[in-house]
Amino acid sequence: MFAKIFSFFSCDLGMDLGTSNTLVYLKGEGIILKEPSVVAVDTVTKKVLSVGSEAKRMVGRTPTNIIAVRPLRNGVIADFEVTEEMIRYFIRKVSKRKSFLSPRIVIGVPSGITEVERRAVRESAEQAGAREVYLIDEPMAAAIGANIPVNEPTGSMIVDIGGGTTELAIISLGGLVIASSLRVAGDHFDDAILQYFRKKYSLLIGERTAEEVKIIVGSVFPLKEELTMSVKGRDLISGLPKTIEIKSEEVRDALGEPVRSIVEHIKATLEQTPAELSADLIDRGILLSGGGAMLRGFSELITDETDLPAFVAEDTLDCVALGAGKYLEEMDKSKKLLQLSY
Ligand SMILES: Nc1ncnc2c1ncn2[C@@H]1O[C@H](COP(=O)(O)OP(=O)(O)OP(=O)(O)O)[C@@H](O)[C@H]1O
Ligand SMILES: [Mg+2]
Repeated sequence: MFAKIFSFFSCDLGMDLGTSNTLVYLKGEGIILKEPSVVAVDTVTKKVLSVGSEAKRMVGRTPTNIIAVRPLRNGVIADFEVTEEMIRYFIRKVSKRKSFLSPRIVIGVPSGITEVERRAVRESAEQAGAREVYLIDEPMAAAIGANIPVNEPTGSMIVDIGGGTTELAIISLGGLVIASSLRVAGDHFDDAILQYFRKKYSLLIGERTAEEVKIIVGSVFPLKEELTMSVKGRDLISGLPKTIEIKSEEVRDALGEPVRSIVEHIKATLEQTPAELSADLIDRGILLSGGGAMLRGFSELITDETDLPAFVAEDTLDCVALGAGKYLEEMDKSKKLLQLSY
């Protein structure tokens, strides 16, 4: 109630500027925007034609004068101008609900990014109209968003598998004890599926089809009941459209390499974890978040490999934005939390 009245006068946003999806949290209200991080641009005039879901529908289907750009790659800004346009568009879209001028924004960023990459995020948000920009490490935001008691002197492990990066962190006493960021996540799963079809069936499929295959029949651990689906693409030999039937076992094979590298990275992080915190993980387990964690069997695979309990966060796609939002709600109250921002 109090937060609601307070938010009427302020205009603060939490943002998960992700490789695949951008989410915006409005202080006092919660998540009010969820859109793919895609922008359609006219190559001749350089004008932005559409942003978000509408632009995503165009991926792989654009005429020559239009390109659908994903301005973030591997969790960081690959195209500065387009990112800025995208942030501006999203701020304008959410500000229609409320009349505010320049908001304060808390943005989640991968823990492993460089100073230059950090500055790029800050500057594009400022150019897009933000008054003040605070950056929060994504694994910390994900943990806060998943209601992990981050300020306690107990170790928690979080693995956020997004579109471009997998963030791993051990958190205790409000800080990241260990953090590492691996540039292998959902996009790489899609790519592995695409390559598999090309090699095994000489079938060329689009990025969006590969993502659909992953979501519909993808898994990383044997399923109780294996699945099948038919996939359409272009036969590389005849050049004609072709449909083939695919089994979930094959998709699991296709995903082997990128999934293996995530598991190995988790194990390597566990090996570096201080003993006291390591012991905490036996009870606490490993929390998985991000869209990539929705791949069937991820928690089972991790438990099988590490002997630790693993579970996927509720609202796994929303964790970082929820965390950035909660951080925002606390920011004025708690000086301790404020130390976490840059
Ligand atoms: N049901 C599902 N099964 C498997 N993967 C899924 C599912 N739903 C979404 N994904 C994948 O999750 C990824 C997007 O997750 P998320 O929104 O957490 O990423 P992001 O935050 O935009 O990326 P990053 O954090 O790397 O910058 C995409 O690769 C998408 O294909
Ligand atoms: Mg993310």
